[in-house]
Amino acid sequence: MEIKKVVIIGSGTMGSGIAAHLCNANVPVTLLDLTTEITEKAREKIQKSRPPLLIDKSKINNIEVGNINDDFDAVKQADWVVEAVVERIDIKHQIYEKIFKNRKEGAIVSSNTSSIPIKVLSEKLTEEEKKDFCITHFFNPVRYMGLLEIVKSENNDLKKINSLKNFCEQELGKGAIICNDTPGFLGNRVGVYAMQVAMTEAIKMKLSIEEADSVFGRPMGIPKTGVFGLYDLIGIDLMADVLKSFIKELSENDPFQSVAKEMPLITKLISTGYTGRKGKGGFYRMNKTGNKKILEALNIETGDYLPSKKVDLGIETVNLNALIDREDKYGQYAWSVISKIIKYASSLVPNVTDKFNDIDEAMRLGFNWAMGPFEMLKSIGVKKFFDRVDNFEKNQFLENLSKTKNENFYGERQLYTDIETLGKIKPKAIKVDKNKSADIYRFKDFNIVEFTTKACALDYDSMDALKKATDKPLIIINESMQFSAGVNLTYTMSFAEKGDFKSIEKFIKYFQETCKHLKYSKHPVVSAPSGLVLGGGEEVAIQSNFVVSHTNIVMGLVETIVGLVPAGGGCKEVLWRWSQTAEAKKDPDYAPLKVFNIIGYAKTATSTVEAVPLKFLRPEDKKVMNRNSLFEVSRKLIEKNKDFVPPKECTFNLSGKSLKEKMIKVLEKLYNEKVILEHGIEVGKELANVLSGGNTTIDKILNEDDLYKLELESFMKLIETKKTQERIKHTLATGKPLVN
Ligand code: NAI
Repeated sequence: MEIKKVVIIGSGTMGSGIAAHLCNANVPVTLLDLTTEITEKAREKIQKSRPPLLIDKSKINNIEVGNINDDFDAVKQADWVVEAVVERIDIKHQIYEKIFKNRKEGAIVSSNTSSIPIKVLSEKLTEEEKKDFCITHFFNPVRYMGLLEIVKSENNDLKKINSLKNFCEQELGKGAIICNDTPGFLGNRVGVYAMQVAMTEAIKMKLSIEEADSVFGRPMGIPKTGVFGLYDLIGIDLMADVLKSFIKELSENDPFQSVAKEMPLITKLISTGYTGRKGKGGFYRMNKTGNKKILEALNIETGDYLPSKKVDLGIETVNLNALIDREDKYGQYAWSVISKIIKYASSLVPNVTDKFNDIDEAMRLGFNWAMGPFEMLKSIGVKKFFDRVDNFEKNQFLENLSKTKNENFYGERQLYTDIETLGKIKPKAIKVDKNKSADIYRFKDFNIVEFTTKACALDYDSMDALKKATDKPLIIINESMQFSAGVNLTYTMSFAEKGDFKSIEKFIKYFQETCKHLKYSKHPVVSAPSGLVLGGGEEVAIQSNFVVSHTNIVMGLVETIVGLVPAGGGCKEVLWRWSQTAEAKKDPDYAPLKVFNIIGYAKTATSTVEAVPLKFLRPEDKKVMNRNSLFEVSRKLIEKNKDFVPPKECTFNLSGKSLKEKMIKVLEKLYNEKVILEHGIEVGKELANVLSGGNTTIDKILNEDDLYKLELESFMKLIETKKTQERIKHTLATGKPLVN
């Protein structure tokens, strides 16, 4: 079965998201709704979406639009028809009748429903039609969420289901997990249960919502939105509907029922318009008084909103044992929530799925958890878990495990896919060298470096791991969400605050030395980024010999935002790339002025397609839709480059003073137009100094070390200013740039 054309019916949140993603995969797609006006509006919304649903915004018109009355003929040509209309069975049945009357013979038809069983959806179909009908449950936002649950029934032709899975995996880059027809499938069944447990236990134990979110968040390997933040994001009203559907579909004695009951607090929030971020607020709200925005949190007991207080548990990375071993209320809460999630997830084996591994993967892909419940159990330790857990009657999985106490019960990760993923290869390393910021996985023919800090921020140890891993071909890649958000500013500021600028200088020099080494060492270095590839992260990627990039990236040299200039070779390398263009051959100032603009404005690319024209990526760099494939593609590149020869060192001819003056004129104009302020001029002048080559003339040849030196000098000058330090501190405290 080949899928060359797709029709989507229903152009709301999900229909548009699926259409945009098919467009990302260059698959012709038609979007139909009640009227063409609705689908045209949907297309406009796709174009303006943030984060962008399209990898290449210029392709928007590749999504054809129409309405279900005049344009239904499109269905006749489609190999796959996706129904994504409102969650109403009567409407869905009407649509299926029309689709099956018109579809091409053998075309697959699927529903995006999140709560209606296949049995009910397909009750009016013939046996022959049922063969080709399934559920394809995408998650929102479709481009960014890795999970796709393909729900099959006993009537399906399994070959066809498998070929749909392959298409969604290879072309759409999704982690496609085949599930049985049970309520909430895998992701929502466990994910929504986990949210409800986290919420009800927090209320029972009288934790504030910020306290609960700080436990049920990063230290547990769960996104930092936590539970209450996620409730606000999804919509408190939508969650209430989801719960109603679970209550209706699940048996009375399912433990889910006890945490799904309607709560007066939730009912009140919904009835007063506090439905979350889309409403007046929710568990959190942004209170605007005058020019100021203050994040407030709901006090569950009194119903009042008070300024939100950050709770710091002092646990930077995922560490379940550090959490559950605490003797305070946070430790008790963590254990109560984690043990209940593990008990519930394992109770679903084998009746909901006989593959416990699939539950974990659904949680990792659909809820962005670092570990699923079974990996949590492994990480706590089987013996320790059973020493502490209370009854687990009628839980076949736990009863069996309690007998064997097999610490190695887990086996391999990601069994749902045949791709050789990073998660599967890591445990096969011959040796693992760890420091506090990175792990080196050593294999016979190559090494892997994985950064392990929060958002993979880089420090001296990260560089040290890279340097030590270049004794063989090297792949820099990680399983966590971000490739790297840049240099660790907390680490840098810890020196600045003590006035220890020598240590900062030493670190930056080592950063430069390492990046240069990545570029010129005798073995090839491949960076395989996804997520954030910012600042120092981009400097590592751009100075690697090869890049295999996931299509979902946010890439750029953003140092000027915090009042700095890129100093790990970022200015130098982008300048070099721009100086290879035809325009630069004619005009020696062309490349530096372009780069002045790109780095000065801290321009970022939100996809591989946007990164190429900025020259953050080269046309020959590999662009990969499926994040799971990054390792496999990188490894193949290394195999193909057995006779790798490091590149020749590059040189620069820059105009020096006259060019710097041109750049300063640009800055003055921006200052007069109030686009930048005084400190902006200062930062801009330092950038100008680097990109114009400092004290040079056009006939003088500068080498890479000269440029590294200029970057370092400017960086050091700026980090010593009060204003830059203030900017960094503000960004660290709020996660946002200081706008003045
Ligand atoms: P939505 O309310 O955003 O969009 C539904 C669309 O269906 C609207 O554009 C509406 O005009 C259209 N529609 C209604 N009747 C129609 C008809 N007779 N013919 C053609 N179009 C018609 O809904 P959303 O959120 O996109 O949900 C769609 C489906 O996806 C539902 O089954 C929902 O359960 C499921 N789902 C939703 C998720 C979410 O996060 N919103 C996540 C996963 C699944």
